[in-house]
Amino acid sequence: MCGLFGHRWTTHGAGSQRQLVEQLQSVYRMLERGILKSERVLSAMLATDRALYTDRSPYTDAPQPIGQKATISAPHMHAYALELLADHLRDGASILDVGSGSGFLTACFARMVGSTGRVVGVEHVWRLARRSTENVRRDDPNLLGNGCLRFVVGDGVLGWAEGAPYDAIHVGAAACKVPPKLVEQLRNGGRLLVPVGRPGRAQWLTQVDKKPDGSVSSRKMTTVTFVPLTESRHSQ
Ligand SMILES: C[S@@+](CC[C@H](N)C(=O)[O-])C[C@H]1O[C@@H](n2cnc3c(N)ncnc32)[C@H](O)[C@@H]1O
Repeated sequence: MCGLFGHRWTTHGAGSQRQLVEQLQSVYRMLERGILKSERVLSAMLATDRALYTDRSPYTDAPQPIGQKATISAPHMHAYALELLADHLRDGASILDVGSGSGFLTACFARMVGSTGRVVGVEHVWRLARRSTENVRRDDPNLLGNGCLRFVVGDGVLGWAEGAPYDAIHVGAAACKVPPKLVEQLRNGGRLLVPVGRPGRAQWLTQVDKKPDGSVSSRKMTTVTFVPLTESRHSQ
C-alpha cells in the first residue's frame, strides 16, 4: 500500500516492488503530461486496482489482452476519458459505457457517480460481460449490490434504451461514424465520447455535446487507436 497526494493505494494483485514502481511511474507520467488533472479522477483510478481487471502487466501504461480478441485500454486513455467526462460524472448521474470490456473504466464511472448514480456497461461478447461482473465483484461487491452498476450483453451501437437518457456516454471502440442512437440517448446537457474512424486509418476521439436546448455540437479531441466497434456477436 502506498500514499500519494493523501490517497491510500492498495495493490490487491501480486503487489511486488517492481509493480509498485511501475504504477508510480505511470501515474507520475500522466500527471506530468497533464492527462491526469483532477483529484476526483485520481481518486477513482487509485481506488480501482487494475490487477483485478487484467493479470498481464497491470501496472504498465499500455493496453493488455483480456481474451476474446479484446483489450483493456491503457491507463492514460482511461484517465483522458475520465477527465473529459468528469463534469458529467456527478453524484446521481446516469452513465453508459459502450464496449465495457474488462469493466475497469465502468467501475471508475460507478465510483465517480456514487451510490445514487446508475452505470450500465454494454458489451457484445457475453464472456467478457460475465468476466467484468466477476472483476467488479472482487473489486467491490457493493458497486453491483446497490444496483449502481450492471453489465448487459448487447450491441452497443444501439446503446441501451432502457437506462436512457444518459448524462455521459463513453464508447471504448472505434465507430465509422457517430452512432445516432447514442446521440438520441444522451440527455440535454450530456456528453458523448466516441473514437471515430475506419480500421487502419486515423481515428479521432470525438466529443459530442448535447446542449440544454437539445442542439448538438462535436469536436475532435485527439487521434487515437481503438479496436473497431463491430456488429453484434452475442453468441460468443
Ligand atoms: C478496447 S476494448 C475494451 C475497452 C474497455 N474500456 C476496457 O478498458 O476494458 C473494446 C471493447 O468493445 C467491445 N465491442 C466492440 N464492438 C462492440 C459492440 N458493437 N457492442 C458492444 N461492445 C462492443 C469489444 O468486445 C471490446 O471488449
